Amino acid sequence: MGSIKTAILPVAGFGTRVLPMTKSIPKEMLPIVDRPALQIVVDEAFEAGIEHIVFITGRNKSAIEDYFDSAYELEDTLEKKNKIEIKEQLEKLRIPAGKSTFTRQQFPLGLGHAVWCGRAVVGNEPFAVLLPDVIIKAGKGCLAQMVEAYDNVGGNIIAVDAVPEEEVSKYGVIAPKSRDGKLIEMSGMVEKPPREDAPSNLKITGRYILQPEIFHLLEDQGPGAGNEIQLTDAMERLMKTQQFYAFEYEGQDFDCGSIPGYFEAVFAHAMDHPETKALVQALARKALS
Ligand code: G1P
Repeated sequence: MGSIKTAILPVAGFGTRVLPMTKSIPKEMLPIVDRPALQIVVDEAFEAGIEHIVFITGRNKSAIEDYFDSAYELEDTLEKKNKIEIKEQLEKLRIPAGKSTFTRQQFPLGLGHAVWCGRAVVGNEPFAVLLPDVIIKAGKGCLAQMVEAYDNVGGNIIAVDAVPEEEVSKYGVIAPKSRDGKLIEMSGMVEKPPREDAPSNLKITGRYILQPEIFHLLEDQGPGAGNEIQLTDAMERLMKTQQFYAFEYEGQDFDCGSIPGYFEAVFAHAMDHPETKALVQALARKALS
């Protein structure tokens, strides 16, 4: 049994930065070559030993629930047509019965509020948060790397990654204090700072291991950047009483909530997929010649 058993995946956002793709499809269901982006994030969670996934969902997101369920008519048809291999592949992608919970964030009040919506399912245990906008390509999954670090040091851990300075205002940014290998102690963190006020160029990447006390802080957390209840603001408060580390993971992240990030994710995964790898290389060569 892993040390972190529950993961919250906030999937209620509208995906306004990638419209019109997301007008009738949840952004988490956008395809990365042959599977929805969300599948990649769910796989990362299970690889890290997560046993239960809490989807914080919203209106018009039922495609997500259907995707992780069985699809009886489809599976029956595949069996009758003797397409057993595809049927078995689909079966493996299902989340096993009882290992997921869907609960709705009824108002778009921010990431902090979305995480708070999962409090009753998580209970009084440390838990993970994975933002499905961000997919991370890595040998060992980012969350698995973080769980390994957590098993050594405990506390709260957030994944960070360096970004060009002109991009810091799009993210949560940490103020590093001291470094021990991949772990960084911090003196603070701030959500979406103006470039000139950013304490570093280390952005918060969208993977968190948090202690349950964060829920008490989220309970009365007032609105912050963008007039939303920010997880970063509650973490800043939690840092005053608990151990908190930033973690420089190995891997590459893609912000699929933006058109360039989504395109880059598709390209990078197509370069790896056996059915598209040679094609992408040939197309790239042709485009550059
Ligand atoms: C959220 C977090 C931010 C983090 C980012 C990663 O922002 O609030 O701290 O850096 O995800 O993608 P959002 O993208 O929801 O505005």
